[in-house]
Amino acid sequence: MTAVLTLEAVSYHFPGHPTPALQSVSLSISAGRRIVVLGRNGAGKSTLLLVASGIVRPQQGRVWLHGAPVDYSRSGLRRLRQHVGLVMQSPDDQLFSASVWQDMSFGPLNLGLSAEEARQAVQEAAVLCDVTDLLDRPTHALSGGQKARVALAGVLAMRPQCLLVDEVTAGLDLWARQQVVRVFDRLVVAGGTVVLATHDLVLARRWADLVVVLHEGRIVAVASPAEVWADPALRALIAPSEAWEEP
Ligand SMILES: Nc1ncnc2c1ncn2[C@@H]1O[C@H](COP(=O)(O)OP(=O)(O)OP(=O)(O)O)[C@@H](O)[C@H]1O
Ligand SMILES: [Mg+2]
Repeated sequence: MTAVLTLEAVSYHFPGHPTPALQSVSLSISAGRRIVVLGRNGAGKSTLLLVASGIVRPQQGRVWLHGAPVDYSRSGLRRLRQHVGLVMQSPDDQLFSASVWQDMSFGPLNLGLSAEEARQAVQEAAVLCDVTDLLDRPTHALSGGQKARVALAGVLAMRPQCLLVDEVTAGLDLWARQQVVRVFDRLVVAGGTVVLATHDLVLARRWADLVVVLHEGRIVAVASPAEVWADPALRALIAPSEAWEEP
């Protein structure tokens, strides 16, 4: 089966930064997976998701969408957006419209949905993420966790097959986090794939079916949670030993 997204020997170096953010990273993202990306601060998790979403174009290597190389023209990126959505690490980088409704409508309208289709997509995503009561609010007047949920809902409104999520669970209360994980599960059951970058080891252990470990811009493991948890050398690249004890 062809992967939804494939990264082939991708490297990316932020201009002026002393070290590369990604070095020859290859990864195949198939349908129906629950993928968690682990690694320390600066390991390259966010850069990996930026490259996979087409926002950042790698200086070396290639990204493939359904077996065809990603075309970075306007129309090529629009095609990518129809399948792949990114929820960024900081919602303030993602939300730019004055109201929540406008913000969530932007993506679907931009993909070419009619006003009525976009309205439906926004309503559905708002229900899923429990933000219907926020739709008329100005985006700047939301709490951090509310912004994170709105940012996720805005991406879901585009109905991506592959959802890339950068740490969205970090600032959420436990109810919201449970709900967001249910949203991920729903997407996976429907044949979609979720790729989640996180520092939450409990979530990674319980939820992921595949763990990608990044260290200094390189992939050092693509394995099941059980395999990662059984490997002390690998664990040491991710978090201190105490962090691996289940609560
Ligand atoms: N906008 C930027 N300009 C220059 N260098 C950057 C920029 N963003 C990230 N980097 C560098 O790229 C490397 C990878 O960063 P990245 O944000 O991908 O890490 P991360 O694994 O997401 O970390 P965190 O857990 O802190 O979110 C780091 O060395 C970082 O300093
Ligand atoms: Mg990051």
